[in-house]
Amino acid sequence: MSTIQQLQEQFGIANTLTITTHPSGWPLIHIHNQHASAEIHLYAAHITHFQPHGQEPILWLSKQAIYREGKALRGGIPIIWPWFGPHPTDQTLPQHGFGRNRFWQIAQTKQHDDGSTVVQLVLTDSEETHSVWPHRFRLTLTITVGRALEVTLEMHHQEDKPVDITAALHTYFTVADINQVTIEGLDSTPYLDKTTGYTQKTQTGEITITAETDRVYVPTTADCLIKDHTLQRTIRVSKAGSQSTVVWNPWQEKAQGMGDFPDDGYKTMVCVETTNATAQDTVTLTPQATHQLTTKISVEPLEI
Ligand code: BG6
Repeated sequence: MSTIQQLQEQFGIANTLTITTHPSGWPLIHIHNQHASAEIHLYAAHITHFQPHGQEPILWLSKQAIYREGKALRGGIPIIWPWFGPHPTDQTLPQHGFGRNRFWQIAQTKQHDDGSTVVQLVLTDSEETHSVWPHRFRLTLTITVGRALEVTLEMHHQEDKPVDITAALHTYFTVADINQVTIEGLDSTPYLDKTTGYTQKTQTGEITITAETDRVYVPTTADCLIKDHTLQRTIRVSKAGSQSTVVWNPWQEKAQGMGDFPDDGYKTMVCVETTNATAQDTVTLTPQATHQLTTKISVEPLEI
């Protein structure tokens, strides 16, 4: 791997993008432009921070996140790929695939005239990934940091037979007080309730989180609005290339059971994930095909 100095020389952007060494020893990209600040690890292409100027941070990052190779960071935007949840046939393989626990490489960085900054990271197959998933691929994550944060995961299948993919941009959002949050955009949408053994239900009205919540809403292409009545702001989550949305909060007991999650952390976070997560919305990539999964995150004033 290149040294931090080499990465900085090759990809740094004066007054905007620097690459430093995080206390974990891993390279960390810092962006500070006219719109926002952000931080991106090369480990897992993991965006751990996004904050438009004048706003509280948008992404939640666990104070107990474990910075260890092979382990996913708790918070930010884990890249879930090429399977969502448990592996469909082999329970010995890690939950949520392997995109979130490998080092990625920087392909390019650039500055746009509108003041936004783009970072492109790639992950390709290797003998090591073949031991977990025997396929050839190229993943490109394009991150645009402007007044909004736009993240596109492009998956290019490099084989002659089709392959099935489930995936997620598993975003953890910061909220001031989960009891003062409503999530809009999924009214009348069917969902699978994972807390009751994947039972099929239908959303009525807005979502409030008052207990463990683990739901796959499918089908939906709608924007979700996370309304934070304490911070008086709405986080809008828009998406493309996604037919489902996962809403997750572990609540008290599950939070206590996770070593990398503060006991009271569930009070200040909620995941609204841009996904293709079920048999119903699995993406089948034909030979040499490409699929793009995009999430766009922006802040608006709260309108009730
Ligand atoms: C969500 C799943 O996407 O991720 C939950 O729907 C899961 O079932 C959660 O608990 C966190 O997963 P992990 O592997 O990061 O602990």
